[in-house]
Amino acid sequence: MLPASISDYRELARRRLPRMIFDYIDGGSYAEVTLARNVADMEAIALRQRVMKDMSRLSTAVTLFGEPMAMPLALAPVGMAGMYGRRGEVQAARAAKAAGVPFCLSTVGICPLEEVGQGAGTPPWFQLYMLKDRGYMRELLARAKDVGSRVLVFTVDLPVPGTRYRDVRSGLSSRAAGPGANVNRVWQGLTRPGWLWDVYLNGRPHVFGNVAKAVPQAKGFNDFWGWIGANFDRTVAWKEIDWVRESWDGPVVLKGVLDVEDAREAVRAGADGIVVSNHGGRQLDGVKSSIAALPRIADAVGGDLTVLMDGGVRSGLDILKALALGAKGVMIGRAWAYALGAGGQPMIERMLGTLRAELATAMILTGCTDVQHADKTLLDAAV
Ligand SMILES: Cc1cc2nc3c(=O)[nH]c(=O)nc-3n(C[C@H](O)[C@H](O)[C@H](O)COP(=O)(O)O)c2cc1C
Repeated sequence: MLPASISDYRELARRRLPRMIFDYIDGGSYAEVTLARNVADMEAIALRQRVMKDMSRLSTAVTLFGEPMAMPLALAPVGMAGMYGRRGEVQAARAAKAAGVPFCLSTVGICPLEEVGQGAGTPPWFQLYMLKDRGYMRELLARAKDVGSRVLVFTVDLPVPGTRYRDVRSGLSSRAAGPGANVNRVWQGLTRPGWLWDVYLNGRPHVFGNVAKAVPQAKGFNDFWGWIGANFDRTVAWKEIDWVRESWDGPVVLKGVLDVEDAREAVRAGADGIVVSNHGGRQLDGVKSSIAALPRIADAVGGDLTVLMDGGVRSGLDILKALALGAKGVMIGRAWAYALGAGGQPMIERMLGTLRAELATAMILTGCTDVQHADKTLLDAAV
């Protein structure tokens, strides 16, 4: 199948990846109510069709945090991407570079900062999970600076991981540890020989590159996963932004803000940007969708810092909807994770090309010549 839509990449990834890996990407927390809401609420927004305008000139380019981008989109931090494709973070960073958009590397990526920076020939944005060992956190920030990362995406919605039922059922979760779980995992791997050979045996995804030095005793996935799960720090509060600033002189973007009051706190704390996000429906299930939260937050703080959003972006049309509701740009998580699982860097490049073409089409059909001028007038007020 030649993939056209994000659901096609999803289907290809489902066929190629072991179930526990696919479910890790695809799933959300608890009953997955918020995950579904992210997509459904985005779908429900009606764009406003306009006709007979000269649309010969079109610009999708923006500059965010001082960085020029071909379109207002960045690849969101996604943990363990080296499990979806061989050295997956490097493949994704290369695809992002080819498309002229930033790639954000997760703290819990398989490939370390240095490998991604060198492999892509351009430094990634770096996503920080605040783990308990602050000394190690400082070292990690210093490493990010050394590879040339400028933008720090500090994820604030994960003081504790939300339970993901699918990961328990599939055997991925540490709650499922034990001999039975191991047999189950091996079996799932054997049913996907292409993945087993390409990613698992040749890709060495057993080490979480950015945290490896903090867990020298770790021998494999279980040890890392267990350690990471136990080391998220629930004491983190607003004053921690000052601590981050001591180690970081570039833009700091807080990812995971869903409430207007928190957005105002982010301004007071001196953040350069926020990502309106519920972690792709992977944390507090039942909260509202990101796209529903966006307009009030953008109205409240859009003049003070750069507002991005993520959650439920599945097409170029969705990008325009988010811009119309006040975002300066979007991040995509599952879209690139599926494409990586479907076929690595070429598939991500193809997918990003499609999103950009869809964005351009949506602009032409709504009469929007420049993404920087997108606003509520692009939407049908009746809906
Ligand atoms: C498989 C997977 C792993 C993720 N890992 C991280 C992570 O390590 N750090 C982080 O800040 N967010 C992580 N996220 C959340 C994404 O950065 C992003 O907020 C979310 O995927 C956006 O929703 P979408 O998947 O609908 O685009 C992850 C999401 C997925 C799907």
